[in-house]
Amino acid sequence: MPHPYQDHYFFKAKKDGFLARAVYKLEEIQKKYRLLRPGFRVLDLGAAPGSWLQLIQKAIGPKGLAVAVDVKPIDHRFSRNVITFQRDIFDSGFVEELTSQYAPFDAVLSDMAPSTTGIRSADSARSALLFERALDVALRSLKPQGHFLAKLFQGSESAALIAALKRHFARVKVVKPDASRKDSREIYILAMGYGKTH
Ligand SMILES: C[S@@+](CC[C@H](N)C(=O)[O-])C[C@H]1O[C@@H](n2cnc3c(N)ncnc32)[C@H](O)[C@@H]1O
Repeated sequence: MPHPYQDHYFFKAKKDGFLARAVYKLEEIQKKYRLLRPGFRVLDLGAAPGSWLQLIQKAIGPKGLAVAVDVKPIDHRFSRNVITFQRDIFDSGFVEELTSQYAPFDAVLSDMAPSTTGIRSADSARSALLFERALDVALRSLKPQGHFLAKLFQGSESAALIAALKRHFARVKVVKPDASRKDSREIYILAMGYGKTH
Protein backbone atom coordinates (compact mmCIF):
# COMPACT_ATOMS: atom_id res chain seq x y z
CA MET A 1 0.00 0.00 0.00
CA PRO A 2 1.54 3.38 -0.91
CA HIS A 3 1.71 5.99 1.85
CA PRO A 4 -1.18 8.53 1.46
CA TYR A 5 1.35 11.21 0.46
CA GLN A 6 2.64 8.96 -2.31
CA ASP A 7 0.05 10.07 -4.81
CA HIS A 8 0.15 10.63 -8.57
CA TYR A 9 2.30 13.78 -8.15
CA PHE A 10 4.78 11.99 -5.86
CA PHE A 11 5.47 9.33 -8.49
CA LYS A 12 5.41 11.87 -11.33
CA ALA A 13 8.12 13.92 -9.54
CA LYS A 14 10.32 10.83 -9.23
CA LYS A 15 9.82 10.03 -12.92
CA ASP A 16 10.45 13.63 -14.06
CA GLY A 17 13.60 13.98 -11.91
CA PHE A 18 12.21 16.61 -9.50
CA LEU A 19 13.26 16.70 -5.86
CA ALA A 20 9.68 17.01 -4.51
CA ARG A 21 6.07 16.89 -5.65
CA ALA A 22 5.76 20.56 -4.58
CA VAL A 23 7.15 21.52 -7.99
CA TYR A 24 3.77 20.90 -9.66
CA LYS A 25 2.13 23.65 -7.58
CA LEU A 26 4.58 26.23 -8.89
CA GLU A 27 4.44 24.73 -12.38
CA GLU A 28 0.66 25.19 -12.51
CA ILE A 29 0.92 28.79 -11.30
CA GLN A 30 3.76 29.49 -13.73
CA LYS A 31 1.79 28.06 -16.68
CA LYS A 32 -1.22 30.21 -15.87
CA TYR A 33 0.39 33.48 -14.75
CA ARG A 34 3.95 33.42 -16.22
CA LEU A 35 5.41 35.02 -13.12
CA LEU A 36 8.97 33.84 -13.89
CA ARG A 37 10.71 34.92 -17.08
CA PRO A 38 14.18 34.58 -18.63
CA GLY A 39 16.70 36.88 -16.96
CA PHE A 40 14.65 37.36 -13.76
CA ARG A 41 16.21 37.71 -10.31
CA VAL A 42 14.22 35.48 -7.96
CA LEU A 43 14.29 34.93 -4.19
CA ASP A 44 13.00 31.51 -3.07
CA LEU A 45 12.25 31.28 0.68
CA GLY A 46 11.78 27.84 2.26
CA ALA A 47 13.48 26.29 -0.75
CA ALA A 48 14.62 22.85 0.51
CA PRO A 49 14.87 20.23 -0.89
CA GLY A 50 14.82 22.35 -4.04
CA SER A 51 12.09 21.34 -6.48
CA TRP A 52 10.84 24.92 -6.98
CA LEU A 53 14.44 25.91 -7.49
CA GLN A 54 14.78 23.33 -10.30
CA LEU A 55 11.84 24.97 -12.07
CA ILE A 56 13.04 28.51 -11.32
CA GLN A 57 16.50 27.70 -12.70
CA LYS A 58 14.93 26.54 -15.95
CA ALA A 59 12.52 29.49 -16.22
CA ILE A 60 15.09 32.25 -15.59
CA GLY A 61 17.79 30.68 -17.76
CA PRO A 62 21.52 31.41 -17.61
CA LYS A 63 21.09 35.20 -17.45
CA GLY A 64 18.83 35.13 -14.38
CA LEU A 65 19.75 34.81 -10.72
CA ALA A 66 18.08 32.68 -8.03
CA VAL A 67 18.78 33.12 -4.34
CA ALA A 68 17.41 30.37 -2.10
CA VAL A 69 17.06 30.16 1.68
CA ASP A 70 16.10 27.33 4.04
CA VAL A 71 16.89 26.27 7.57
CA LYS A 72 17.49 22.82 6.10
CA PRO A 73 20.38 22.10 3.76
CA ILE A 74 19.80 22.28 0.01
CA ASP A 75 22.06 19.48 -1.15
CA HIS A 76 21.22 19.35 -4.83
CA ARG A 77 23.83 20.86 -7.19
CA PHE A 78 22.40 23.76 -9.15
CA SER A 79 23.99 25.92 -11.83
CA ARG A 80 26.27 28.81 -10.84
CA ASN A 81 23.54 31.44 -11.00
CA VAL A 82 21.71 29.71 -8.12
CA ILE A 83 22.94 30.77 -4.68
CA THR A 84 21.79 28.87 -1.59
CA PHE A 85 21.83 29.81 2.10
CA GLN A 86 21.15 27.49 5.03
CA ARG A 87 19.65 30.12 7.32
CA ASP A 88 16.52 30.91 9.29
CA ILE A 89 14.60 33.81 7.72
CA PHE A 90 14.18 35.25 11.23
CA ASP A 91 17.96 35.34 11.90
CA SER A 92 18.85 38.83 12.95
CA GLY A 93 20.60 40.82 10.24
CA PHE A 94 20.15 38.10 7.63
CA VAL A 95 17.47 39.82 5.53
CA GLU A 96 19.56 43.00 5.43
CA GLU A 97 22.59 40.94 4.31
CA LEU A 98 20.52 39.23 1.64
CA THR A 99 18.87 42.35 0.25
CA SER A 100 22.02 44.47 0.30
CA GLN A 101 23.82 41.82 -1.77
CA TYR A 102 21.18 40.55 -4.16
CA ALA A 103 18.11 42.86 -4.34
CA PRO A 104 16.21 44.08 -6.20
CA PHE A 105 14.25 40.98 -7.20
CA ASP A 106 11.68 40.52 -9.93
CA ALA A 107 9.91 37.90 -7.85
CA VAL A 108 9.93 36.81 -4.21
CA LEU A 109 8.48 33.33 -3.59
CA SER A 110 7.85 31.60 -0.29
CA ASP A 111 6.85 27.98 0.16
CA MET A 112 7.85 28.19 3.84
CA ALA A 113 5.79 25.98 6.12
CA PRO A 114 6.00 25.56 9.89
CA SER A 115 6.40 22.16 11.51
CA THR A 116 2.78 21.33 12.17
CA THR A 117 1.22 20.43 15.51
CA GLY A 118 -2.13 19.23 14.20
CA ILE A 119 -3.83 22.05 16.11
CA ARG A 120 -5.37 24.12 13.33
CA SER A 121 -5.25 27.54 14.96
CA ALA A 122 -1.65 27.07 16.12
CA ASP A 123 -0.52 25.89 12.69
CA SER A 124 -2.26 28.72 10.83
CA ALA A 125 -0.80 31.29 13.27
CA ARG A 126 2.73 29.94 12.66
CA SER A 127 2.16 29.91 8.92
CA ALA A 128 0.89 33.52 9.10
CA LEU A 129 4.14 34.56 10.82
CA LEU A 130 6.20 33.02 8.02
CA PHE A 131 3.95 34.64 5.42
CA GLU A 132 4.30 38.06 7.08
CA ARG A 133 8.06 37.70 7.22
CA ALA A 134 8.17 36.75 3.52
CA LEU A 135 5.97 39.74 2.69
CA ASP A 136 8.20 42.04 4.72
CA VAL A 137 11.22 40.78 2.75
CA ALA A 138 9.31 41.27 -0.52
CA LEU A 139 8.29 44.83 0.31
CA ARG A 140 11.93 45.65 1.03
CA SER A 141 13.44 43.96 -1.98
CA LEU A 142 11.06 43.84 -4.97
CA LYS A 143 11.48 45.87 -8.12
CA PRO A 144 8.53 48.05 -9.11
CA GLN A 145 5.96 45.76 -10.84
CA GLY A 146 7.57 42.72 -9.17
CA HIS A 147 5.66 39.62 -8.02
CA PHE A 148 5.11 37.91 -4.69
CA LEU A 149 3.86 34.34 -4.22
CA ALA A 150 3.55 32.76 -0.79
CA LYS A 151 2.02 29.77 0.92
CA LEU A 152 -0.45 30.32 3.74
CA PHE A 153 -2.42 27.89 5.93
CA GLN A 154 -5.92 29.34 5.97
CA GLY A 155 -6.98 30.67 9.35
CA SER A 156 -8.32 33.69 11.16
CA GLU A 157 -5.32 35.79 9.99
CA SER A 158 -5.84 35.15 6.24
CA ALA A 159 -8.29 37.94 5.39
CA ALA A 160 -6.14 40.65 7.01
CA LEU A 161 -3.00 39.39 5.23
CA ILE A 162 -4.75 39.41 1.85
CA ALA A 163 -6.05 42.93 2.54
CA ALA A 164 -2.50 44.07 3.37
CA LEU A 165 -1.29 42.74 0.02
CA LYS A 166 -3.99 44.63 -1.86
CA ARG A 167 -2.52 47.89 -0.55
CA HIS A 168 0.80 47.19 -2.26
CA PHE A 169 0.05 45.14 -5.39
CA ALA A 170 -2.14 45.79 -8.40
CA ARG A 171 -3.51 42.23 -8.61
CA VAL A 172 -3.97 39.73 -5.76
CA LYS A 173 -5.29 36.20 -6.21
CA VAL A 174 -5.85 33.22 -3.95
CA VAL A 175 -4.70 30.04 -5.69
CA LYS A 176 -5.22 26.39 -4.74
CA PRO A 177 -3.16 24.40 -7.23
CA ASP A 178 -4.31 20.94 -8.21
CA ALA A 179 -1.16 19.41 -6.67
CA SER A 180 -1.98 20.98 -3.31
CA ARG A 181 -3.59 18.22 -1.26
CA LYS A 182 -7.33 18.63 -1.03
CA ASP A 183 -7.30 17.85 2.70
CA SER A 184 -4.66 20.53 3.37
CA ARG A 185 -5.61 24.06 4.43
CA GLU A 186 -2.71 25.45 2.43
CA ILE A 187 -3.41 28.08 -0.19
CA TYR A 188 -1.07 30.29 -2.20
CA ILE A 189 -1.47 34.02 -2.45
CA LEU A 190 -0.21 35.48 -5.70
CA ALA A 191 0.34 39.23 -5.81
CA MET A 192 1.47 40.85 -9.06
CA GLY A 193 2.42 44.40 -9.90
CA TYR A 194 4.25 45.71 -6.83
CA GLY A 195 4.10 49.42 -6.19
CA LYS A 196 0.44 50.01 -6.91
CA THR A 197 -0.28 53.69 -6.63
CA HIS A 198 -3.46 54.84 -4.95
C1 LIG B 1 7.16 22.65 1.83
S1 LIG B 1 8.85 22.85 2.16
C2 LIG B 1 9.44 23.68 0.73
C3 LIG B 1 9.52 22.80 -0.51
C4 LIG B 1 10.25 23.49 -1.65
N1 LIG B 1 9.48 24.60 -2.22
C5 LIG B 1 10.56 22.55 -2.78
O1 LIG B 1 9.93 22.67 -3.83
O2 LIG B 1 11.45 21.71 -2.63
C6 LIG B 1 8.86 24.13 3.37
C7 LIG B 1 10.24 24.57 3.82
O3 LIG B 1 10.14 25.75 4.64
C8 LIG B 1 11.30 25.75 5.45
N2 LIG B 1 11.19 26.74 6.53
C9 LIG B 1 10.28 26.75 7.54
N3 LIG B 1 10.53 27.77 8.39
C10 LIG B 1 11.61 28.44 7.88
C11 LIG B 1 12.35 29.58 8.32
N4 LIG B 1 12.03 30.21 9.47
N5 LIG B 1 13.40 30.01 7.59
C12 LIG B 1 13.74 29.34 6.44
N6 LIG B 1 13.08 28.24 5.99
C13 LIG B 1 12.04 27.79 6.70
C14 LIG B 1 11.35 24.31 5.94
O4 LIG B 1 12.64 23.99 6.44
C15 LIG B 1 10.97 23.53 4.70
O5 LIG B 1 12.09 23.02 4.01
